[in-house]
Amino acid sequence: MSEYHVPVLFNECMAALDVKKGGVYLDGTLGGGGHSEGILLRGGTLIALDRDQEAIEESEKRFREKSLGGYTLVKSNFHDAAKVLDDLNIGCIDGALLDLGISSHQIDQPQRGFSYRFDGRLDMRMDRDSAKTAYDVVNGYSEEKLTEILFKYGEEKFAKKIAACIVRERKVKPISTTLELSELIKKSTPQFYHRQGHPAKKTFQALRIEVNGELEGLDKAIEDIAARLKSKARFAIITFHSLEDRIVKQTFRLLCTDCICDKSLPVCVCNHKATAKLIGKYKPTEEEIALNSRAASATLRVIEKL
Ligand SMILES: C[S@@+](CC[C@H](N)C(=O)[O-])C[C@H]1O[C@@H](n2cnc3c(N)ncnc32)[C@H](O)[C@@H]1O
Ligand SMILES: [Zn+2]
Repeated sequence: MSEYHVPVLFNECMAALDVKKGGVYLDGTLGGGGHSEGILLRGGTLIALDRDQEAIEESEKRFREKSLGGYTLVKSNFHDAAKVLDDLNIGCIDGALLDLGISSHQIDQPQRGFSYRFDGRLDMRMDRDSAKTAYDVVNGYSEEKLTEILFKYGEEKFAKKIAACIVRERKVKPISTTLELSELIKKSTPQFYHRQGHPAKKTFQALRIEVNGELEGLDKAIEDIAARLKSKARFAIITFHSLEDRIVKQTFRLLCTDCICDKSLPVCVCNHKATAKLIGKYKPTEEEIALNSRAASATLRVIEKL
């Protein structure tokens, strides 16, 4: 198994995608290539995207070492998947997978600045060609805006206190590293909170979501990919926290619903037609969680194109 990232809900994903030999499959979040390798080993032709160049290079190396063929890896945001498929002259696809969030490799590299467990410059960019870093957010956003993102993206109940402390400290000197920020969060939150898990966890999640725009336009990106699925093709999405899971659930529900009119209307005026049906929702087994604690918060949702 790759040390870069252990794929979560692997068997469930492979069963859901039901890969057909020669079928074309999109993996929008390549990472260490675990799920993608599963698609290749089952005879699928793979188009895989990641916005992190390191993920592309790592997976390319992995597939080359294993003499696997039939893949095209593109450094791209999956929000642009339709354009990538157009550029490759691919019309409709036989299945798609998104495994949202960050890879273990990204978290475990101190210099990527994702983790409060290692010291590194506040960065948190998945795509290192993008402009905005966590340093820019922490040192540049107003107190109100910081409070809002910590609350909205971290569901952090001490958002106001933490934001106020950040603004006070950064007047003395900029907050440059993950550990500086983590210490400051400890300082600004009560002792009892520290016993409920790491006090910086929610703030770091919120900053990561903000830096990478993880929730913005996710619904549209899912709809765009769903629009490229052939009849009977499956779309599987793994999420790791309630905010992104809610978006996936609602978007899938919309794709699988006929009329979306207000219930009070006597007749349908929307003419909305379902284009897919719900297949299921899956959680990791106890055995998987025992082997890989990062699986604990994962949820897999699957739809099938009509
Ligand atoms: C959880 S990992 C995927 C792991 C992969 N399934 C495997 O088996 O190794 C998520 C990956 O998706 C990438 N990613 C997250 N959001 C993305 C986006 N909007 N567009 C492209 N890649 C994205 C991250 O850079 C990361 O490498
Ligand atoms: Zn209607």
